[in-house]
Amino acid sequence: MNEHISLAPFTTFHIGGPARYFTEAQSVEEVKEALAFARANSLPVFTLGGGSNLLVPDGGVDGVVLKMAMCDINFESDGADTLLITGAGAGWDGVIDAMGEKGIFGIENLAGIPGTVGGAVVQNIGAYGAELSNVFEYADVINKKTGETSRVTLREAEFAYRDSFFKKHREFVITRAVLRMGHDAAANTSYPDLERARASGVPLATPAEVAGAVRAIRAKKFPRIAEEGTAGSFFKNPLVSRELADSLAKRFVGLPLFPQENGMVKISLAWILDKELSLKGFSVGGARLYESQPLVVSARRGATAKDVDALALEVSEKVFDATGIKIEREVETFGK
Ligand code: EPU
Repeated sequence: MNEHISLAPFTTFHIGGPARYFTEAQSVEEVKEALAFARANSLPVFTLGGGSNLLVPDGGVDGVVLKMAMCDINFESDGADTLLITGAGAGWDGVIDAMGEKGIFGIENLAGIPGTVGGAVVQNIGAYGAELSNVFEYADVINKKTGETSRVTLREAEFAYRDSFFKKHREFVITRAVLRMGHDAAANTSYPDLERARASGVPLATPAEVAGAVRAIRAKKFPRIAEEGTAGSFFKNPLVSRELADSLAKRFVGLPLFPQENGMVKISLAWILDKELSLKGFSVGGARLYESQPLVVSARRGATAKDVDALALEVSEKVFDATGIKIEREVETFGK
């Protein structure tokens, strides 16, 4: 068990104080050992994947930070499908490349998303018309409190927009995830950004080509993690009732609406921040709303969690004053 380890380098925000205890787990046994240590010392456990959707407080965390480092990627055939069996610590974008090499469609629209497989499942990542839940089969988990292992299937995983069973039940640590992809799947390029790429002649015939196109689109929208800190979209797009969406669309002409299967309507927060509130580049300390995509918070080197929190609070208040909507964070904070 390492002590007093700065967490900033383990996050894509490059923000955050030290972990009282820190350990990397390469196996289920090592996860169990870390959990036993935390139980014996009555300490909370914070699970860390790629740190790409995470804000660590400036004062750090008084507990055990458990970095998931089981990174194996394996394949199995199951009839016409391929099962992808991965350790929770495997890098998500590497999994995309592995499927690209096999030529199997299913997750290519989720290319270029930083972080690990475990984080992708907890967060039910989604982009360009695809969502992790579309391919999820099951995950193996360990209960932090008891050390017991169990399996959570698709039916039990309660996936919703950036939400899951695993996000609601933080006592489970995902150690392994299994994704199912069918050989009859085809490219899904109906999302406006991908349609535009196709129209301009970008090839989109294979999973690897689609992944390449998605990475190129994302590169234009997101800060470069090597230069600036970011955790991608900082807020969720609000889900509102059809009635509220209609009345907002009347007040804010041009507001993009995305009707959901459950009857709710997702409204574009980036559009409100940009067109209605002119908040592109709005900053507090070293944190600002990114110019090319204001849903994204970008942090200069040296920015603090306090800066990000203050920015988020001001933005939430401005959105509430303009729309009456209480926006929610997509990014998680250790200890909250
Ligand atoms: N828009 C503006 N001004 C801007 C940028 C966007 O008005 O500066 C408007 C446009 O009308 C655009 C709309 O906002 O059509 C939506 O923008 P975009 O398609 O870029 O996506 P988003 O809703 O901002 C969501 C996800 C992203 C995901 C993209 C692409 C959330 C919170 N964010 O963003 O996911 O990559 O769609 O599918 O759901 C993430 O979760 O971290 C993330 C980056």
